[in-house]
Amino acid sequence: MRVLLTGGAGFIGGHIAGALAARRHEVVVFDALLESAHGVGAAGGRDGLILADVRDRAAVADALRGVDAVCHQAAMVGLGKDFADAPEYVGCNDLGTAVLLAEMAAAGVRNLVLAGSMVVYGEGRYDCPRHGCIRPGPRAVDDLAAGRFEPRCPDCGAELTPGLVGEDAPTDPRNVYAATKLAQEHLAAAWARATGGRAVALRYHNVYGPGMPRDTPYAGVASFFRSSLERGEAPQVFEDGDQRRDFVHVRDVAAANTVALEAVGGSGAGSFAAYNTGSGEPHTIGEMAAALASAHGGPAPEITGGYRLGDVRHVTADSRRLREELGWRPEVGFAEGMEEFAGAALRGAVATG
Ligand SMILES: NC(=O)c1ccc[n+]([C@@H]2O[C@H](COP(=O)([O-])OP(=O)(O)OC[C@H]3O[C@@H](n4cnc5c(N)ncnc54)[C@H](O)[C@@H]3O)[C@@H](O)[C@H]2O)c1
Ligand SMILES: [Zn+2]
Repeated sequence: MRVLLTGGAGFIGGHIAGALAARRHEVVVFDALLESAHGVGAAGGRDGLILADVRDRAAVADALRGVDAVCHQAAMVGLGKDFADAPEYVGCNDLGTAVLLAEMAAAGVRNLVLAGSMVVYGEGRYDCPRHGCIRPGPRAVDDLAAGRFEPRCPDCGAELTPGLVGEDAPTDPRNVYAATKLAQEHLAAAWARATGGRAVALRYHNVYGPGMPRDTPYAGVASFFRSSLERGEAPQVFEDGDQRRDFVHVRDVAAANTVALEAVGGSGAGSFAAYNTGSGEPHTIGEMAAALASAHGGPAPEITGGYRLGDVRHVTADSRRLREELGWRPEVGFAEGMEEFAGAALRGAVATG
């Protein structure tokens, strides 16, 4: 099949391109080489890349010719520098998705796999011993500053036990990026209903692996730690290091995209389905920092007690649906993946001013 891969020059997109080619699919790579992701001066173009913005209707229409399915990875990622970034996030992620979907509608391309994110859930799922399943609101600054990091039951103040979030959990985006990722899903669902298309959103957990961008305000936590180690510095771990996440290897995420692209054409016309995409093996941020530091042979992590407003305490995915319905199996375990990542090359993006 011929696949238009937006964001195909990015961290995850690059691995998807390889995985699709290995399955003998034809891949059309489309990417604007954003400065926030690739650094200044990267936009010189590369062989076989359509260097264009997904907001450019004519370029998208052109790229869609002869395409059977679209794999939409292009997005501005991370938390950004401050709220001033909001228009650019909304532009790339939501206007860009709207333009892509409008052109798919016009070209009769009906199959879409979208890069979603676990950030749409906000705080994960918790259980109170008295009140059952609880969804705590944002944590108060005073609590964070006093080192009270665990959210409590809003009704009785009891300590909560973190659990796994399923796809049917209510969404609760907590920052601009999260809001744009959720809007992408809503747009995809609306497009599917309006055109009889079929859309799958893969809600990735924390993706890591070779080719991950270096630490910029747009990068993920594994890349901050890895970049510190490269400079000979100890990874700086926020809060008390006990925040739970699910670190999923980029090759497993690429494989999830391949199975979704191969399956999406067989789903019902007008359908939209979301799948959590995590390893199924939750770990704390502190464990991740320690695994990287020990594999890299660098200084042990420092627990700083610092915090970022808008960070959630725990969120871990239940990825059973992706395993059961699409037959996906993550293959890279935590220890093995972190060992490889500790010595892997990062993408040499330079933060822009
Ligand atoms: N890395 C993670 O942990 C993670 C987690 C959840 C979801 N995601 C999603 O996965 C996708 C890929 O992210 P990534 O980590 O590979 O980031 P990345 O920055 O490496 O890749 C994104 C690519 O999209 C391109 N792009 C951005 N806006 C564009 C536009 N308007 N037109 C054309 N190209 C544009 C960028 O140049 C970049 O090459 C994104 O949709 C992101 O939201 C990533
Ligand atoms: Zn309670």
